[in-house]
Amino acid sequence: MSNAPEARARRPSGRRPIMLREIREEPERVATLIDRESAGLQKALQRLRESPPPLILAAGRGTSDNAATYGRYLFEHFAGIPVSGAALSLFTLYPAPMHLKGALAIGLSQSGESPDVASALQAARRAGAFTLAVTNSAGSSLAKVAEHTVLLHARKERSVAATKTYVAELVAMAMVSRALAGEPRQREIERLPEFVRSAIECEAEIERLAAYYRYAPRCLCLARGFNYATVRETALKLMETCYIGSTGMSAADFLHGPIAFVEEDTPVLTFAAKGPTYPFMLDLAKRLEQQGVDVLTFTNHREILAHSALGVHCPVRAQEALTPVPFATLGQLFACHLALIRGLDPDAPRRLKKVTRTL
Ligand code: F6R
Repeated sequence: MSNAPEARARRPSGRRPIMLREIREEPERVATLIDRESAGLQKALQRLRESPPPLILAAGRGTSDNAATYGRYLFEHFAGIPVSGAALSLFTLYPAPMHLKGALAIGLSQSGESPDVASALQAARRAGAFTLAVTNSAGSSLAKVAEHTVLLHARKERSVAATKTYVAELVAMAMVSRALAGEPRQREIERLPEFVRSAIECEAEIERLAAYYRYAPRCLCLARGFNYATVRETALKLMETCYIGSTGMSAADFLHGPIAFVEEDTPVLTFAAKGPTYPFMLDLAKRLEQQGVDVLTFTNHREILAHSALGVHCPVRAQEALTPVPFATLGQLFACHLALIRGLDPDAPRRLKKVTRTL
């Protein structure tokens, strides 16, 4: 019998999870997105390159909000433009005029049907912002209110837990940031499908390690910088597919209080990318190791694994700013396999529908 993950991973019903199938599609979907949207985006943002917006407003819910958080790090770092994560209730429950003249407003929604995200974009357009939709649905409400749409080209996503659309949103954020900065560093972006493929090649190892968390009731997910979005997203995936009480937080904030909560048997997951945040993550791994806490580390730099009880080495040679793309895939594979190991169906999270409409 084959020992490959695709031969083993089955839902309780015996069928292969759609979630897993869609994760494995990611390299191809990302390649299509880059190929089809780059030129149009460069053109649409030309005016903003000449006269940069004083502010970027980024609006999204759930997974799409995590992609917006990644965008924040990219836009502030590469384009030097401050970003505000839209508090959507300020647009829907407490509507009041906002000063957004000359700003760039980005609405992220995989379905394009989150009414609050579309409302925020519409209000921002009325207030004089240039509006950009990032969505997987060309005919959606969100696309209709935006002046330009970056289509995700992820094809239909059937998994309730977003996977390929999330990864595509991250890639779209990277494309927007480079287009805004007017940087010709497109070559790194073109390598993203290859980076995601490297993450998928870690699947068998991830499945093996997930077994250690079969009975975990809770989990802390930690990272810093660009991968802050990765831990928030991984925690969300663990909650919705594995029913594990999970929090994704900045590893720096963790030291400001939550470290007190950790006991020897508290599962801690970290993402450590080679780059400016690496020394901090290495110190943290050593500190938790000394305290007897078992950490599972996802990394592209082997050294830290000597201080982690468990680890996955994903050999991507990417600048830190782009690692959230393949690292998101690692987190998704972990959540999906852990759900299966716990006897849960990752395709049928309790009480969830594919589209959630909030106002
Ligand atoms: C979680 C998930 C949700 C959605 C959220 C927003 O895996 O899929 O958190 O991201 O409901 O949906 P969209 O992006 O369609 O607005």
